[in-house]
Amino acid sequence: MQDPSTLTLRAARTSDCTRLLEWVNSPDSLAAKLKTHAPIASVEHVRWFERAMADNDIVIYIVESDGSACGQIRFTRQFDNEPSTAPHWLVDIFVCNSFRGAGVARSAMEKAMHRLLLEKRHTFAAFVAEVIHENPASLSLFRRLGFTSVANTKTHVCLMKNVRRATDE
Ligand SMILES: CC(C)(COP(=O)(O)OP(=O)(O)OC[C@H]1O[C@@H](n2cnc3c(N)ncnc32)[C@H](O)[C@@H]1OP(=O)(O)O)[C@@H](O)C(=O)NCCC(=O)NCCS
Repeated sequence: MQDPSTLTLRAARTSDCTRLLEWVNSPDSLAAKLKTHAPIASVEHVRWFERAMADNDIVIYIVESDGSACGQIRFTRQFDNEPSTAPHWLVDIFVCNSFRGAGVARSAMEKAMHRLLLEKRHTFAAFVAEVIHENPASLSLFRRLGFTSVANTKTHVCLMKNVRRATDE
């Protein structure tokens, strides 16, 4: 594994469709989901992916280590709290098993949040993660990134972080 600070991000492209289906259907990814628990059928995924790629309110980044895809970060814009407040983006993250525990998710999330701010020309935005109680890795990840708990339900914790675009960008 290379130094996590040298990881790169790229926008997802059509050829990532199969890779993303494999990742979303991996048992630990399904176990971490709030709503989806059964594997997603290929035909359903392809339909969703085509819509997602055409949707300005969904941004998918592929995380690469030494040129190999090792994870994904998806941001989905939420409009419940707008327009009176900052744009809200719901986060979904997955890192391949063999890359875990080395700071990949943390480094990639930092890069991805700043990249989204730049690409969407937001001065600042709120990032939201909904994490089930039985997912300690994800809870530590978001807490370590400076997210704070804003709601706690029977099933999950909702964590949030406000991020401002760096002034020199
Ligand atoms: C959650 C996930 C993205 C973390 O990826 P990762 O690259 O291993 O995370 P990092 O190495 O950057 O670690 C981030 C923090 O989580 C902690 N962590 C990682 N794995 C952990 C585990 N199994 N148990 C407890 N804490 C853990 C790390 O110690 C680190 O905290 P620290 O900086 O205080 O030491 C990865 O486990 C994953 O893809 N899981 C399946 C999908 C999922 O749960 N997604 C989140 C949905 S909300």
